[in-house]
Amino acid sequence: MSKHKNELALCAILFLTPTYTTLHLSTPSTTNVMAFHFIFCLFAPILFVPLFPYLRNLFKSNRRRPPLPPGTLGWPYIGETFHLYSKNPNIFFASKQQRYGSIFKTHILGCPCVMISSPEAAKFVLLTKSHVFHPAFPASKERMLGKQAIFFSRGQYHAKLRKLVLRAFMPHAFKSYIPNFESIAQHFLHSSEGILVTTFHEMKTYTFNVALLSIFGKDRVVYSEDLKRWYYVLEKGYNSMPIDLPGTLFNKSMKARKEIARIVEKIMSTRRKMKADWNDLLESFMSDEEGLTDEQITDNIIGVIFAARDTTASVLTWIIKYLEENPGVLQAVTEEQEAIMRGKEEQKLSWEDTKKMPITSRVIQETLRVASILSFTFREAIEDVEYDGYLIPKGWKVLPLFRNIHHSPDIFPDPEKFDPSRFEVAPKPNTFMPFGNGTHSCPGNELAKLEMMVLLHHLTTKYRWHVVGSNSGIQYDPFAVPQNGLPIRLFRK
Ligand code: HEM
Ligand SMILES: *[C@@H]1O[C@H](CO)[C@@H](O)[C@H](O)[C@H]1NC(C)=O
Ligand SMILES: *[C@@H]1O[C@H](CO)[C@@H](O)[C@H](O)[C@H]1NC(C)=O
Repeated sequence: MSKHKNELALCAILFLTPTYTTLHLSTPSTTNVMAFHFIFCLFAPILFVPLFPYLRNLFKSNRRRPPLPPGTLGWPYIGETFHLYSKNPNIFFASKQQRYGSIFKTHILGCPCVMISSPEAAKFVLLTKSHVFHPAFPASKERMLGKQAIFFSRGQYHAKLRKLVLRAFMPHAFKSYIPNFESIAQHFLHSSEGILVTTFHEMKTYTFNVALLSIFGKDRVVYSEDLKRWYYVLEKGYNSMPIDLPGTLFNKSMKARKEIARIVEKIMSTRRKMKADWNDLLESFMSDEEGLTDEQITDNIIGVIFAARDTTASVLTWIIKYLEENPGVLQAVTEEQEAIMRGKEEQKLSWEDTKKMPITSRVIQETLRVASILSFTFREAIEDVEYDGYLIPKGWKVLPLFRNIHHSPDIFPDPEKFDPSRFEVAPKPNTFMPFGNGTHSCPGNELAKLEMMVLLHHLTTKYRWHVVGSNSGIQYDPFAVPQNGLPIRLFRK
């Protein structure tokens, strides 16, 4: 196994070296870049090619151990990254799966990895053996998002953060925010009337406001402009080269981080002097008995904005596209939403109303399935693990491919078809995981669904819209979104 060790040492160097290519492979019009949630590390492995020609024969398996999964590891060191970039990543995964089955090895992002695409294997990695499959991210990314953010953390510290985040993001906690969500939604729909707007852009504004509200509660009003301004600077650096010289994107990003930290500290120090209930994420973080440090709080606030905003905005954009393409479905959603308003004196949504939206819920589920904006997630084996007769060696990355599972014809017949009625029957465990599963699954999923419902309620009852221009392409931004962010025109009904 010492062969693996060489390989892994190199992988470690790459993973820890702050050298990843900009996703500007992913300028908005490119379609051949991967989209993933917290995975941001598209390295420039080609730079390293001359160093590692000897790595070619690394993968003859040792007789006493189970074999490695099938698959090819591509050229030494470039791995299969090129193949991945040169095609739509989903086609890459699907063709591999066709050839090798639901578990195969490959070599991307400079690291040997095992991709898995069956519900059983996903359960094995994310739940049954989650203690040996840890989240793994490049160090430079951790620095920008915050080293102590929930995604990167493990063990007790992770459990504590999760408890605090879940407490703030459980329905009973944010129920009272529905009127605020409504006014944010109505305000932005109103301001988009008649003009040509980019759906994704508008949706990001909406989800940003909702995220700030759920983090900072009332304090959002005072600080949101500053927070937004600095967050925009910060995110420009997410996919930049981490070179810390004055004037670089990375340096500006790190500076923006400090500014955000300053604002958060200011809010906290004001709150410490007052006695009140805020009922938001910051309060949950501040009330921890053992105490989180200010730095831990800031890292996690930035992390939550990152996790909450573009994901939800991209799903909403897909919903708007699919509704326009499927007039029958749009009609059914509209009728369901109109029925909720009928006979009401006050035109306000309540928590109970959101329980009366089965058709709308299925549209959301089906969109999460078809669009699968998080194609996969990322783990690392911390010891040798055997699965299904194959060895997953210590140090290898393991990628559960959500998208492949969601597009498997055995699980979802005619998988490319948008058909919300397929969710009239609940999907089997671990066949539908848009929010992951297990210890790191999405704690924001209830909030995400609620904010989508509120927006769809006002959109379908008061507006009609049409998509402008051709709309068949996909771009990765970094999540999958319709080409050009789906330009539309909205009209009041
Ligand atoms: C439709 C929108 C969303 C989708 C599809 C989504 C999906 C996911 C997925 C798949 C994971 C698990 C990643 C993994 O296992 O490696 C995750 C984690 C996470 N999500 Fe979401 N998410 C969405 C919205 C949100 C929102 C609105 C919030 C916050 C308000 C949020 C906060 C988080 C956090 C904090 C984690 C990390 C949890 C941990 O590591 O323990 N997400 N999300
Ligand atoms: C940006 O670069 C300057 C000059 O090298 C350095 O002093 C500063 O610490 C850097 N900023 C951050 C936030 O790293
Ligand atoms: C997560 O895993 C558990 C245990 O296998 C299962 O009962 C549950 O349905 C899974 N959740 C999803 C969303 O598939």
